[in-house]
Amino acid sequence: MNPSGIRARGIEMVFSHGGIDQVVLDGVDLDIPAGGFVTLLGPSGCGKSTLLKILGGLLRPTAGSVRVGELSAEDAVKSREIGLVFQRPALLPWKTATGNVALLNELVGGRRAKASARATAEKMLDLVGLADAGSKIPEKLSGGMAQRVSIARALALDPTILLMDEPFGALDAITRDRMNTSLLDIWSRTGKTVVFVTHSISEAVFLSDEIHLMDSDPGRIVESLSVELPRPRTGDTIDDPRFVEYEHHLRKRLGSGATEQAS
Ligand SMILES: Nc1ncnc2c1ncn2[C@@H]1O[C@H](COP(=O)(O)OP(=O)(O)OP(=O)(O)O)[C@@H](O)[C@H]1O
Ligand SMILES: [Mg+2]
Repeated sequence: MNPSGIRARGIEMVFSHGGIDQVVLDGVDLDIPAGGFVTLLGPSGCGKSTLLKILGGLLRPTAGSVRVGELSAEDAVKSREIGLVFQRPALLPWKTATGNVALLNELVGGRRAKASARATAEKMLDLVGLADAGSKIPEKLSGGMAQRVSIARALALDPTILLMDEPFGALDAITRDRMNTSLLDIWSRTGKTVVFVTHSISEAVFLSDEIHLMDSDPGRIVESLSVELPRPRTGDTIDDPRFVEYEHHLRKRLGSGATEQAS
């Protein structure tokens, strides 16, 4: 399956709290190229998760449109074009890693699909570097391993797009760096389109082709920055003077309200 791109136009999201309207997103236009790695970066509360949910068809915007390839976001979800990964892995504690990754395919495919769902699950666990952990239950996995399982679970449905909402936010800095490198490896091997949400400046620069910088009240995109650092990105990337310049520029744009965490 070829990857799809996403095109969003004039996105507005208004939430009502006790009769008072809060404009959470206003006038958001976004083009995510097929096969690209694009990041939404911004301070807490600026609407990153809300925008990601709208792109993924989980929330309907109060105005504007989203197209995923040729489809509406809702149809893209129905035809399993979109996979989601959240900050917490949310694995079923009584199922093994393989069982968790296979579950959705087993449910969709019925009894006969069980063997093929488990074979796919094992392949995906191998892809995320967990070939030997398939029989472990979640409590026997480290935080980084559990998050890899949740990535494998999203990949098992073979979506063309992965939407990732701060997937490594709960991990320590060393594990997070490893996960970033590993995610880029998975991305280059699978050719998926990735939309990644973070409030870490360095994570955004390390991973992305393009960063959409957001600000709040109302949530909007204030700058789109192409990151022209060579790939593959490695431990040496962060020593590239351009890496430091991008970081510096973004930190200045975000001002003292930036919520950068060491990573
Ligand atoms: N379902 C909802 N109902 C009402 N208000 C909401 C809802 N979801 C989000 N909001 C509000 O929208 C704003 C943006 O929230 P959102 O979760 O998108 O921010 P965020 O940029 O992802 O923040 P963080 O970095 O902390 O995750 C917040 O003020 C939040 O309270
Ligand atoms: Mg969020």
